[in-house]
Amino acid sequence: MSKWWQRAVFYQIYPQSFKDSDGDGIGDLRGITSKVSYLHELGIQAVWLNPIYASPMIDNGYDIADYRQINPVYGTMADFEEMLTQLHAHQIKLVMDLVVNHTSDQHPWFQASRQSRDDPFSDYYIWADPRADGSAPNNWGSTFGGSAWTYVPARGQYYLHLFSPAQPDLNWRNPVVREEVYRLMRFWFDKGIDGFRMDVINLLSKPEHFEDRPKDPGSEYADFYPVVANGPEMHAYLHEMYDRVLKDYEGMTVGEMPHVTPDEAKRYTDPARHELNMVFQFDHTYIDEGQYGKFSTVRFKLSDLKQTLDRWQLALNETGWNALYLGNHDQPRVVSRFGDEHQHREASAKMLATLLLCQKGTPFFLQGDELGMTNVHLPLEAYRDIDTRNAIRMLSRQGCGVADVRQMVYNKSRDNARTPFQWSSAEHAGFSTHAPWLAVNPNFAAINLAEQQTRTDSVFHYYQRLLAFCQTDETIIAGDYRPVATADSAVYSYMRCHGETRYLVICSFAATPVRYLLPVEPEAVARVVLSSAEERAHAAVTQYLTLAPFEATVLALNTNEEVSGCSVSGRWRAQSEPAQR
Ligand code: GLC
Repeated sequence: MSKWWQRAVFYQIYPQSFKDSDGDGIGDLRGITSKVSYLHELGIQAVWLNPIYASPMIDNGYDIADYRQINPVYGTMADFEEMLTQLHAHQIKLVMDLVVNHTSDQHPWFQASRQSRDDPFSDYYIWADPRADGSAPNNWGSTFGGSAWTYVPARGQYYLHLFSPAQPDLNWRNPVVREEVYRLMRFWFDKGIDGFRMDVINLLSKPEHFEDRPKDPGSEYADFYPVVANGPEMHAYLHEMYDRVLKDYEGMTVGEMPHVTPDEAKRYTDPARHELNMVFQFDHTYIDEGQYGKFSTVRFKLSDLKQTLDRWQLALNETGWNALYLGNHDQPRVVSRFGDEHQHREASAKMLATLLLCQKGTPFFLQGDELGMTNVHLPLEAYRDIDTRNAIRMLSRQGCGVADVRQMVYNKSRDNARTPFQWSSAEHAGFSTHAPWLAVNPNFAAINLAEQQTRTDSVFHYYQRLLAFCQTDETIIAGDYRPVATADSAVYSYMRCHGETRYLVICSFAATPVRYLLPVEPEAVARVVLSSAEERAHAAVTQYLTLAPFEATVLALNTNEEVSGCSVSGRWRAQSEPAQR
């Protein structure tokens, strides 16, 4: 019997940019509440809400100063409770962000900890003595640039911050810190929330000794991820968290985990081990990295995307569970990155949604994906994200020309995903009556919800159909995943098999029509279950299907031959070897 979170598709709400109710240019909780009926109309069953807690907003709420307070820019606790009541009244679950690798430097724990070495809070964070020459304890670089250590004269010590200096890392070796976290988790579960998305959760367990690492080429700093991700106590901490909190609630957990392998993920999500339900892995976000890491102008290769997604699908097919995503608030817009943001924007947005939602696991998509919202091109000084601002400085320092820096930011800035939701063609895209905190994408006059609601062939209406199908269809929810090797390098197809039912999912990444060789006899096609191409339902099924640009089609097969639980024909078998790994 599947759990609610295995059937649900999650909608990610970035509160700053969803809907502003009080005209200050910043989205808020009442704004979300005012749009619950929209979420219901769209047909999602669960929401992941990015952090809404008290925060100086150095990293847009991922720097928390009080875990039990609502950030006043978002509203009050009463507003939160009303939002939760309304979501639940519409059968929508709410999953909150749990950010406990670090706090804000404004958190009272850190304010006390930085004062002295023998305060009750002195051991809440990770402090280390300078080297003999007074420099930082080691050469790790922080994720947002510069050293991962900052010196505090009052203690004569450095504190560790894997992210910005405003985000000191908590000391998970300290059992009192762990208890604090378990208490705050209970606080939110007792309010009635349905689970947690756990920020960079596999970074909690730091090595015992802070040794230097080989420096990154062209940098004075070293990458800490290989020695910090999945550290020695990681499984023990998560198991303890389960034991102290999670086992008492029906809550769902998804851990954000940079640098996690499929084998590790299987251990984290094996139900028998009682750790997490699923993890957000990053492998497919690394496939278009370049000389400067994430900031690059490299275009992904479909073969890499297929290989990565297939590997994860197969690894967790039987044990564990995948969290599926192509984009979120830290990634570019999916249609710009993996589709075609120009001529075939709508078709490619529909295709990417189909690819994602029909895989095995729990899909997550970001607000605005259901409109096919795109990356934004702003003047460099208009970017707000700390990561982007640091990158602009660092790339320039490393000798990149302005045109290159601009292109890398256009491609990869996190602000691409954070521009306000495009409700209508009214001023500020109907998001607010005030100029928003981050510029609206100038394409809102053409790309907006109000327009798409008037058209049955819109991305929005396609999402509605897809969501209705994917959240109720047992084969999509529980079926096995089978990779399909296609002769055409522009098509990604795979099978989902459950009992007697077999679906063939076909996704074209080509901007021109392609001839796709069916991996089964045409007679084996029982029906078209779903297609983004209107003609597909009426077209004759022949050995070669001519796929429209960026077409996505799901076919039900009626082949009778049984091969290891999934019926296939001889021809199918010949072509269904897993893609080369
Ligand atoms: C996660 C968040 C990201 C944040 C970082 C530090 O990766 O998704 O937005 O900047 O953690 O908390």
